Amino acid sequence: MCSHGSIGRRCLLPHIMCGIVGYIGYRNASDVLLDGMHRLEYRGYDSAGIAIRDKDSIGIQKEVGKVSDLEKLVSSMKPGGHQGIGHTRWATHGEVTSLNAHPHTDLRKNVTLVHNGIVENFMELKAELEYSGVSFTTETDTEVIAQLLAQIHHGDAVSSLVELSSRLKGSYAMAILIRDEADRIYCIRKGSPLVLGIGEGESFCASDVPALLPYTKDFIYLDDGDIAELSAAGIKTWNSQGEKISKDVCRVDWDVSMVDKCGYPHFMLKEINEQSRVLRDTLCHRVNSSGIDLSAELTISSAEVAALKKVHIIACGTSYYASLVAERFMENITDLDIRVDIASEYRYRSIVTGKDTLAVFVSQSGETADTLAAERLVKKTGATCIAVTNNPNSTLAREVDHVLQLMAGPEIGVAATKTFSGQLAVLYLLGLFLGKQRGTLSTSQEEKFLSEFANLPYKIDTILMKHEEIRILAEKFADSRNFLFLGRGLSFPIAMEGALKLKEISYIHAEAYAAGEMKHGPIALLDSEVPVVVINPRDELYEKTLSNIQEARARRAPIISVITEGDVVSQKNAQASVSVPATENDLTPFLTVIPLQLFAYYVARHRGCDIDQPRNLAKSVTVE
Ligand code: G6P
Repeated sequence: MCSHGSIGRRCLLPHIMCGIVGYIGYRNASDVLLDGMHRLEYRGYDSAGIAIRDKDSIGIQKEVGKVSDLEKLVSSMKPGGHQGIGHTRWATHGEVTSLNAHPHTDLRKNVTLVHNGIVENFMELKAELEYSGVSFTTETDTEVIAQLLAQIHHGDAVSSLVELSSRLKGSYAMAILIRDEADRIYCIRKGSPLVLGIGEGESFCASDVPALLPYTKDFIYLDDGDIAELSAAGIKTWNSQGEKISKDVCRVDWDVSMVDKCGYPHFMLKEINEQSRVLRDTLCHRVNSSGIDLSAELTISSAEVAALKKVHIIACGTSYYASLVAERFMENITDLDIRVDIASEYRYRSIVTGKDTLAVFVSQSGETADTLAAERLVKKTGATCIAVTNNPNSTLAREVDHVLQLMAGPEIGVAATKTFSGQLAVLYLLGLFLGKQRGTLSTSQEEKFLSEFANLPYKIDTILMKHEEIRILAEKFADSRNFLFLGRGLSFPIAMEGALKLKEISYIHAEAYAAGEMKHGPIALLDSEVPVVVINPRDELYEKTLSNIQEARARRAPIISVITEGDVVSQKNAQASVSVPATENDLTPFLTVIPLQLFAYYVARHRGCDIDQPRNLAKSVTVE
């Protein structure tokens, strides 16, 4: 489907996917930058740095490690300026060193910048610059940008940035200090996200809204190629041709408490506990007395829905597992051909799409590079594109035909939890909408689903109340080195999500398998040291999975089962079990996933892991 080569093969040095912040105004710049960088750490936390301008000098401080490590360094120096840029880094290639950390400068320090993205042609540009006598101190693509801009810049900063962007291939969001432009910060973006924050006597920029929520709720979203100049007096913007443009100001309704832990020891635990609220909010916007109503968001006519033949759902990570659950549900209530793919695979295959295709891109952030790339390819074929995202101003949301927003609020823990439930809820509603429009879902079925949907938040709360029981269980198994997760039907993707959560935050190897497939391989791994987590609610596949439990027991594997309340048979067949309230068969995933999230959380906590920022992971993966 796509002829693009892999950037990964061509770019030898740091692929950087990071958070950037910029501030100019009356406050202490280092305080604002460090605060914002803490809120962006979910984007990367290998190393961090800031550049503060104080009168004529620009001081740079960088540190390997987290923003708190940089904070210790900065607090001993107490920089006093009111203007600066900061960066928290996540490197996929190249060493994590203080030298490679941002900000980067040219040799004369005329240009100092922070960058999120990848410059694909940096080798070529570097060779040109070296030929003209420029020498480099790091091997990063970002230093190449700084050196190139320093060479280009004579006079007008905006013209220099227009020229710079004409020379760069790849993706970037940057905040830039130029020595001879004293009271300004410049920003430019293409591909990577960047928002501008408007204050009274101060201006901000950041990779994402949560970084700036304590300071402002008024944001400008830059489009590809846009250039911005930030000063204490306000913000000016230009398009990629250097023509002055005015941009809409959007007021966000997120509150700063949404990005605080509110007494919880970790964001992940707070977010797990928010899931009943997420479900309520998702429904109250989309269900009324006549049933499911998505007309405010989906302006697809009945004729267009009738003409559809297939639904392609494309996503990465947890969003992919939510999509797999939704695939099975949609199959049950529509006559459409549904398929789900991992974005990084889908984009390189020859999959036929066209006007008869509804393409649904599921992405919490709306910025995942592979999901965006897949969307751009599919859109060209005439398919109707929908984004299911938590960020209605994300790049994905702005490129698709329709947006279905998750009502999750900001999710800070790197391991997705409440956005998983939010995605499931929205995708189920989309399925109900399609079934209703195509006449494959009867009114009584719709009523049955919607009324049980309304009960789910209460049922989730009863599971959350079992946190102590789940903590004790988790601690009992926390020293195991391997886990197998099993499930059938709708519970198979839940097994995958449960295994993913455990891997991500506790670093224990966990493999998920379709229960019926266990005997074709993973059964060879089983012994008394390998706990098997089985998701087996009372649905039409219950008995089949029970047989698989017997097979695992016969190999002496300890069984931990997630079951429906009152299922005594399953209890007898397990070392330990956690029960969830009974619900409609198709809705069990909303409940069975909760004990698995809590289990992973308490295992990781017992092992002393960094739960909100697990090693090597980033929440928003904006590179291939
Ligand atoms: C990263 C995150 C995951 C997330 C995945 C997809 O791997 O660590 O939690 O599920 O990206 O992100 P998206 O924003 O597209 O849902």
